[in-house]
Amino acid sequence: MRRTYVITGAASGIGAATAELLKEQGASVIGIDLQGSDIDADLSTVEGRKAGAQEALERAGGKIDAVIASAGLSHPIPVTMAVNYFGVTEFLEALLPSLTQAQAPRVAVVSSMASLQTVAADLVDAALAGDEARALEIAASYVTDDPQTGSVIYSSSKRAISRWVRRESIKPQWAGAGIPLNAVAPGVVVTPMTEQLRSSEETLAFVDSVVPMPLNYHQSPESIAHQLIWLTSVENTHTTGQTIYNDGGCDAVLRGDDVWSWND
Ligand code: NAI
Repeated sequence: MRRTYVITGAASGIGAATAELLKEQGASVIGIDLQGSDIDADLSTVEGRKAGAQEALERAGGKIDAVIASAGLSHPIPVTMAVNYFGVTEFLEALLPSLTQAQAPRVAVVSSMASLQTVAADLVDAALAGDEARALEIAASYVTDDPQTGSVIYSSSKRAISRWVRRESIKPQWAGAGIPLNAVAPGVVVTPMTEQLRSSEETLAFVDSVVPMPLNYHQSPESIAHQLIWLTSVENTHTTGQTIYNDGGCDAVLRGDDVWSWND
């Protein structure tokens, strides 16, 4: 049976590569982005998320088999939290009733290795509490002349989304409804998002120092797309709640070999 996928951020980078590969495999794909895809929607706003989800449902004739949320920003400004966290959670929640009707519903989102970096605990907590106004207010307090201070907005948005995935995945509306919910966390992907960072020796040296990738160095958007496609395929029956670090070994370098001691 031909599966229908909704993909956010489908106009560029990882979302575009995923849409392309899925179409080649014969799937029906409905892309959402600010512009340049099938549906124009601004996922930084409540109205945009609702309207985007509604239009996707209409285009799909009410039948959506999988959602892949790739839309995101890395700017050190509050809207990054709005898109990367609430633009994922609220959008997915709007499509959940339709997913529940599907035969093999699946969801995957794009987190980041940045989820392992320093975060602002109060910002992560506000996001996980679902308090967007508070989260944006806290995020604004991290905007200074030094973009390094603002970078915690991005890392916090990714830590929060990975925690949301883990927390939500086992609930009745997800696991109980037979819906695997996972995240993929890339290292440095060669897309427009990282173009500037990769463009000078100085910024490149900084990026490579904080994102060590001993396996195959920087990665293509397809390297992430293939994993998103597997996670949202019929074949994925038992992987859920995971953030899969698809990052050239960055997670293993940063966290080391003992990530299992939580219950020792
Ligand atoms: P990209 O910049 O090529 O694509 C992101 C897409 O999201 C763009 O088409 C953009 O228009 C869309 N988008 C941004 N704000 C939006 C909004 N308000 N409403 C709707 N769409 C919006 O970037 P890339 O690399 O494909 O990023 C995709 C995801 O991967 C993001 O969530 C990003 O945080 C994540 N990621 C990317 C990494 C990289 O090295 N490129 C590394 C780790 C994670």
